[in-house]
Amino acid sequence: MAKATRAYLDDHAFVEVETPFFIKSTPEGARDFLVPSRLNKGSFYALPQSPQILKQLLMVSGMDRYYQIVKCFRDEDFRGDRQPEFTQIDCEMSFVEQEDILQLFEGMTKHVYKEVKGIELANFTRITFHNAMKYYGCDKPDLRFDCKIIDLNEVIPATEFAVFKNVQTSGGLIAGINAKGCAEYSRKQIDELTEFVKASHRGLGGLIWIKYGKEGIKSSIDKFFSPEEIAVIGNAMGAESGDLLLIAADKLSKVRKSLGDLRLELGKREKWMDQNPWSLVWVIDFPLFERDEETGEIIFMHHPFVMPYPEDIQYLETDPTKVRGQLYDLVINGNEILSGSIRIHQQALQEQIFKILGLTEEEKEAKFGFMVNAFKYGAPPHGGCAFGLDRWVMLLAGADTIRDVIAFPKNASGRDTMMDAPSAVDEGQMKELGIKTVAVE
Ligand code: AMO
Repeated sequence: MAKATRAYLDDHAFVEVETPFFIKSTPEGARDFLVPSRLNKGSFYALPQSPQILKQLLMVSGMDRYYQIVKCFRDEDFRGDRQPEFTQIDCEMSFVEQEDILQLFEGMTKHVYKEVKGIELANFTRITFHNAMKYYGCDKPDLRFDCKIIDLNEVIPATEFAVFKNVQTSGGLIAGINAKGCAEYSRKQIDELTEFVKASHRGLGGLIWIKYGKEGIKSSIDKFFSPEEIAVIGNAMGAESGDLLLIAADKLSKVRKSLGDLRLELGKREKWMDQNPWSLVWVIDFPLFERDEETGEIIFMHHPFVMPYPEDIQYLETDPTKVRGQLYDLVINGNEILSGSIRIHQQALQEQIFKILGLTEEEKEAKFGFMVNAFKYGAPPHGGCAFGLDRWVMLLAGADTIRDVIAFPKNASGRDTMMDAPSAVDEGQMKELGIKTVAVE
C-alpha cells in the first residue's frame, strides 16, 4: 500500500520530506511521549503526535505539495484500532480548496484499492456530520447497509407511559430503528439486545419493541397505546410485515449512541454488513468546536488550525459551537481512516481561535509562538490530510485489530513484552540526563 501511495503521489507532483521526531508538543489532543535531553538538563523533546505544524510551516516556506509516510506517537488509551506508535500517510498542499483535496485523495484511495486488491471502487458517498449523528448515531457511519435512526419525537402521541413522558416533558429524544425481517426474534434475543443497550457505556434503561409478526402486530407498549397509535408509529418507521421496531427514549446523546451501536450489532448478527464489501464515506461539515460534556469547556474537534466556513465566522464570538469547520474524515466500513482540513492561514483569525480556546498570551506564545510568527510573513491558503496507514491495512487485510498488521505491536498496557519495554534504566544513565524518579501515588 505504501508503494501504491508513493506512485500516486509522485505522479501528482508531491515531494516526500522527512520531518524531525525530536520536536515540541503538537496539538492532536493526546498526551505526548517525552524524551529527556542530556545537553539541556531538565528539558524534554516531545515526539510528534503528527507532523501537523511542521507540514504547515513547509507550506509557508513555499513547498507546494508535501507528503510523508511517517511514524506518529500518542500516549492515549488503548483500543483495537489504536497503537501508541502508528504510521500516517501525511499530506499537505498549497492553494487548494476542500473540494480539490477530496477529489485528489478519493483518487488516491481508488488507486490503492486497484493496485493492491484489484478492486474498482465506485465514487464515495458524502454525508454531513449533522446527518451522520442524526441518522447513524456516530460520526463514522458504516454505510455497507442502511437502517437509519428514525426520530419519533413528533410521532409519539402524548402519553402516560413514563419512558416517553419523561422525554415529552423534560426534553430528549425518542427514536427507533427498523430491524427488517427480525419480527420473529424470541424473547431471549430481544433481552440480549436490551442488555446490549443497557451496558454501562451506553446507559439506556431499556428498549421498547414492536413486532410486525406472523400473528399480527404485538408490542411491549400495548397497554399504553391503541392499535391505531401503534400503526402511526409503525408507518413513520416504514414497518412492513416481518419487521421488528426497536425504540429508545432518553437524553439525545444516549439514544443516538445506543441506537447507533445497536444498528451495528444487528448489522453483524444479521450479516447486513455483507450486503456491500466496501463503504467509503466522506464525512464533512464538522463543527469546529465542541463543548466538553464534563467541564463545559469549549474544545476543538480536530486541532486549532482548522479554517471555519466563511459564512459561520460571524458566530465565533457569540456561539462558537455553531461554527462549522472545513474539516473532513474519510470513513471506510465504519472506521476513520483519514482526517484533514483546510487550515487557517491568516494570523488574526488564528489568534482569535486561540483566544476562544482560552489560551492566554503566554500559553499561546509558548506553544505556538513559532508558528504564529511564521504566519506574519504571509502564508498561502493550504490544507491537507493524513491517512492512518495501519488502520487502513487492517481493513484491507480483513484483520480484527491493528495489532495483527503491525510488526512488534504493544499490548493493551502499552508494553512490548518481548523486549520488556518500557523498563527501568541504570542509575548512570539517569544521572547523565539529570533525572531522578520518585514514587507518586
Ligand atoms: P488525526 O489525529 O485524525 O489527524 O489522525 C489521522 C489518522 O490517523 C489514524 N490514527 C491512528 N491510527 C492508529 N493508532 C492511533 N493511535 C491513531 N490515531 C490516529 C486515524 C486518523 O484518521 N494532523 C492531522 C491530519 C491533518 O489534519 O492533516 C491528524 O493527525 O486513521
